[in-house]
This record gives sequence, C-alpha cells and structure tokens, in this order.
Amino acid sequence: MVKNDERVLLTGPTGFIGGRLLRALDEKGYRVRCLVRLSEKLTIRGEPLRRDPEVVYGDLLRPETLSAALEGITTAYYLVHSMGGRTIRETKAFAERDRKAALHFLSAAEAAGVRRIIYLGGLGERSDELSKHLASRNEVADILQSGRVQTTVLRAAVIIGAGGASFEIIRYLAERLPVMICPKWIQTRSQPIAVQDVIAYLIGCLENEATAGLRLDIGGPEILSYADLVRIYCRVRKLKRLLIPVPFLTPRLSAYWINLVTPVPAGIVFPLVEGLKNEAVCRDNRIRDLVPISLTPMEQAICQALAEESMGPGRLPSVQSCFVSWRS
Ligand SMILES: NC(=O)c1ccc[n+]([C@@H]2O[C@H](COP(=O)([O-])OP(=O)(O)OC[C@H]3O[C@@H](n4cnc5c(N)ncnc54)[C@H](OP(=O)(O)O)[C@@H]3O)[C@@H](O)[C@H]2O)c1
Repeated sequence: MVKNDERVLLTGPTGFIGGRLLRALDEKGYRVRCLVRLSEKLTIRGEPLRRDPEVVYGDLLRPETLSAALEGITTAYYLVHSMGGRTIRETKAFAERDRKAALHFLSAAEAAGVRRIIYLGGLGERSDELSKHLASRNEVADILQSGRVQTTVLRAAVIIGAGGASFEIIRYLAERLPVMICPKWIQTRSQPIAVQDVIAYLIGCLENEATAGLRLDIGGPEILSYADLVRIYCRVRKLKRLLIPVPFLTPRLSAYWINLVTPVPAGIVFPLVEGLKNEAVCRDNRIRDLVPISLTPMEQAICQALAEESMGPGRLPSVQSCFVSWRS
C-alpha cells in the first residue's frame, strides 16, 4: 500500500529500467519526481500516465544540481551508469564518473534526509577477477551503502527486455549471423531475468522495509550459459543457427566483432563483453522470501521482449544505448 508521505525520486527515468519503473510506480499511485539531464528525452510512450511526474533537472556529475532534486524525498531509486562515452578516452573513464556520481548522490541524499536508496547493480563475485564494469557496479554499491541512508542493493545479471543493452546484443547476433563462432565465454553461466520481474522486485523493495540496508541477488528461474540463451532465442524465433565453439576468441576480439555486427554503441559493448567471463549466478536467494513473485521463464521473457519490439522501438532513448529498430 502506498504510504501518504512517500515521495519517490527516480534517477535514470529516460533509461531502459527507469522508463518502465516510472510507469509501474505511476500505476501503483506513487508520487514520483524524475531527475533528468535533458527533459525532452523523457517521452512517455503508450497510454498517458495517471499523474504527470514532477520533472527536475539534475546531473549526478554536477553536485550543485542535486539538493533541489532530493528535497522532500523519502526514497530514491539509483538507476544510473556512465558507460557509453563517444570517444575511447571517455569510454575508459566510466568507472571514475560512476564513482563521482555515487559520492555526489550519497552526500546530497544524506543532506536532504532521504530515508532509503534503492540501487540496481550487477551480479558478480569479488572473489572472481571482475571486469571493470562489474567491479565498478560493486564499487557504486559500496559507496551508496557506506553512508547514513539505508540502501538496498539489488544485483542482476542480463536483463531481458526490448531495448536492454545485453538483450539487444543477443538479438542482433542471432538475427544477423547464420553461423556463430563462439569463444569460451559463451559457456559462462548466468541467471538472466525478465525486465518485468526486475521492476516487480524494485517496487517490492520499496514496499518491504525489511529489505532496507540489504544486498540482494535477483535472477530468473533458470541458470543458463550464454550459448543456451542464444539457443532459446533462436528457438523462439525459429531461426536455424550453427554455433561453432573455438578456444581462441578473447572478450576483446569478441567486443570488436559484436561492435561490427550490432548497432549497440562501442562504449557499452566493450565493458559489457569484458564481463562475460564472469559467472553471474545468484548466491543468495533471500529476495524470494522478502519479495515473493512468480518468475518469468526465459522463453516467455524473450517472447514478451520481441512482442514489445514489434510494436515499435521498445525503449526510451538514452545517450548510452541508442539502437536502431531491428526491422531497419
Ligand atoms: N540493462 C541491463 O541488462 C542491466 C543488467 C543488470 C543491471 N543493470 C543496472 O540497471 C541500472 C539501469 O540500467 P539501464 O539498462 O536502464 O541503463 P540505460 O538505459 O543506459 O539508462 C541509464 C540512465 O542513466 C542516466 N544517466 C547517466 N549518467 C547520468 C548522470 N550523470 N546524471 C543523471 N543521469 C544520468 C541516463 O540519462 P540520459 O538519458 O540523460 O543519458 C539514463 O536515464 C544500472 O545501474 C545498470 O547497472 C542493467
């Protein structure tokens, strides 16, 4: 039930997750304030929202813009990352930008007396040699949990939904390549999750205070290799594809190849592909008791993502991940 005094700040409302969460919060009757860098990018597709969200300008890299955005807020969602620079130098610096963004946000949230932060980051164990991207997602979690605001961290692997960067990579590879040369990382295990289940968990955490301060893994009902995921995609689309395993293609070479075959920007492909060597499986399933939901099987998640794609560009455009339509 929505508490009368609950006032929610949504960062990243122009993104893949944030855009969907905005609609879900609106449907539940929450009063939402959206933090945006460019208000024109906040386009509401489909049915109008029940209540127009308040829209405020804010850039996490410009701390002076954050106190007004956080004033009066009880819970803030942190759905921001800085991958996707346009130059190699910019691309390489994403971890530094994400560190600064998290520090600025935490300090502004503390000053504003925010009660809770809910952050969606990435799955990956510190005991492994983590990619720069996954290490950076963990670092953001550490920063946000180091302050006085009770922070819930949700950690997810690949999220399946129209317009999600990882899903789009899989989709373009499967659609465009009749024969796929598959490096070793294609056998890495992961626990992909449907985007609607992620949204249900994000709202469930807001509604269950027992999740405050916890770090929780979220994943779908199946543990799959990336090869399994491609096979399920092909089965759903009735595509005949040949996957040929090879021992030599490094993540870096794969990233160049993926960058060539898919329209996903290099600034996103490189950090994501580097992380494919890291197993991304839930080690802790407390979320299933704290926020019990019925998880979507992967085949159904892919069907739903494709159905959404066929209705038009299934995402809200973001500088970080601007894809062309799959029909073009
Ligand atoms: N997509 C996945 O498969 C996946 C998987 C696991 C975890 N996650 C996590 O989910 C969260 C959201 O990811 P996403 O896929 O929704 O990303 P996304 O579509 O690329 O959106 C990123 C959002 O961050 C905003 N942003 C970036 N830098 C900002 C800044 N300095 N100040 C204010 N806003 C800024 C962008 O705003 P602009 O529109 O202005 O650029 C955009 O709204 C991330 O923490 C990510 O690690 C995603």
